[in-house]
Amino acid sequence: MLRVVVMVSGNGSNLQALIDTVHANPEVDAQIVLVVCSKDGARALERAAAAGIPCEVVALADPSERAARDARLAEVIGRARPDLVVMAGWMSIVTGTFLDAFPGRVINLHPSLLPAFPGMHAIEEAIAWGVRLTGVTVHIAEEAVDGGPPILQEPVPVLAGDTAETLAGRIHAVEHRLLSRCVTLYSQGRIHRDPAQPRRMIVDEGGS
Ligand code: GAR
Repeated sequence: MLRVVVMVSGNGSNLQALIDTVHANPEVDAQIVLVVCSKDGARALERAAAAGIPCEVVALADPSERAARDARLAEVIGRARPDLVVMAGWMSIVTGTFLDAFPGRVINLHPSLLPAFPGMHAIEEAIAWGVRLTGVTVHIAEEAVDGGPPILQEPVPVLAGDTAETLAGRIHAVEHRLLSRCVTLYSQGRIHRDPAQPRRMIVDEGGS
């Protein structure tokens, strides 16, 4: 069984998708063993509690304490012995202190077709740029913000008259499906790094 830790910061709609389609799905050999949240009182914590999943809050009180926060994050998550760590709407920059504890096993969800629009305002920036196409990326997390190799990507068209809210609604629907698919593929051992080209991930979609 794939042991999954999910990192969240706010609403947790992607966490909910993982709970519904992966954690509570007997056909997927994966369990969410811990949810870690960067903010007390976040809706995501209620979702985890409702599903009976243990939660921890690891907050960053002051940016100067990032190294200590990341060491604590590594310790808390390490205790859960994860095979995969999923940043699903985790909105706080993490450093090598954390990522090096789980090499190549931390993935991140981002609401654009990276490398376009990294950072916290990807949907608003896509609207402001006037791009015709944006999308969703699930990628390996590295120290560069939203910078690691993509695993799955899916385009979402920007429609005439779209606002950040209407576009976000369609992006979220794709995120929920793509992230669940990604964790399911991990549980089936179908995702690997290409030994010949380490920037590239090999994904065996299995034709399904
Ligand atoms: C998602 O759209 C995710 O892609 C985004 O935060 C949202 C969280 O929604 N993450 C980033 O922008 C990371 N740079 P949720 O809390 O409802 O799952």
